[in-house]
Amino acid sequence: MQFDRRAFLATLGTAAAINAMSSEALADALEDHMIENLDPETASNELKVRLGTGLLFGGPLPDGKAEGELKKLEPMPEKPTLVDFFKYRFTPATVKHVLQSATDALKKGEKEELILACLVHDVVLNLIKVDHGWWGAQMMEPYVSEKVSWGIRYHQALRFFPDPTVGYEYPEAYNQIFGKDYVPPPYVKQAYEYARNHKSYMDARMITVHDLYAFDPTMKVSIDPFIDIIGRHFKQPKEGLGYDNSPVAHMWRTFIFPDHPL
Ligand SMILES: [Fe+2]
Ligand SMILES: [Fe+2]
Repeated sequence: MQFDRRAFLATLGTAAAINAMSSEALADALEDHMIENLDPETASNELKVRLGTGLLFGGPLPDGKAEGELKKLEPMPEKPTLVDFFKYRFTPATVKHVLQSATDALKKGEKEELILACLVHDVVLNLIKVDHGWWGAQMMEPYVSEKVSWGIRYHQALRFFPDPTVGYEYPEAYNQIFGKDYVPPPYVKQAYEYARNHKSYMDARMITVHDLYAFDPTMKVSIDPFIDIIGRHFKQPKEGLGYDNSPVAHMWRTFIFPDHPL
């Protein structure tokens, strides 16, 4: 019989609660858990949505907590701009994170294209989390320079590999999310090695560096300092994002209408 240790421990509550349990109580709880899992219906109920589901669709946050009740979405303007998506669709947690990383880049005097890359590097997480570097780059590609989309594409793989020359260490949070002995799959390692030897390496690497300073729940940030940078480096289509017939217009439309069944 397959045994998922993590799923079992999650049923017991906090680490403190587990430590307080006697070994008999733990053994009883384990037995209950194994019995419950004999019924495949009960077992499969543990996961309400796939972990790679975007936050817009109720996907869990990276720390395993749920985003909470799904809010009623406001209608979007007829010709939505990038800023409208920040206002109406990207979830507060993601907006905070990308604004903090872009603010860090701005404060440290980075070039405007890198600041824009930081500003949009994770917004696709609202749609889908699996391979978000690739999805995110594709979603932005028609509207930004190659530097920006290249950086977004490879930041995901680079996050797993330290680079002490720019002060980037393996994130402690990954030990919690993936476990201490986690080894990224071969395709991520290959993407890292390709990017490491590419002339644009730093375009992606610096996104991961500013990412480190973007998880402060108390920091107040605003999109205002970035409006002009967006204006200069994001090619806003006149028909509105989602209606410009670009190869990725459907991705923006999915943001606009996440409740459409087809
Ligand atoms: Fe990311
Ligand atoms: Fe990030």
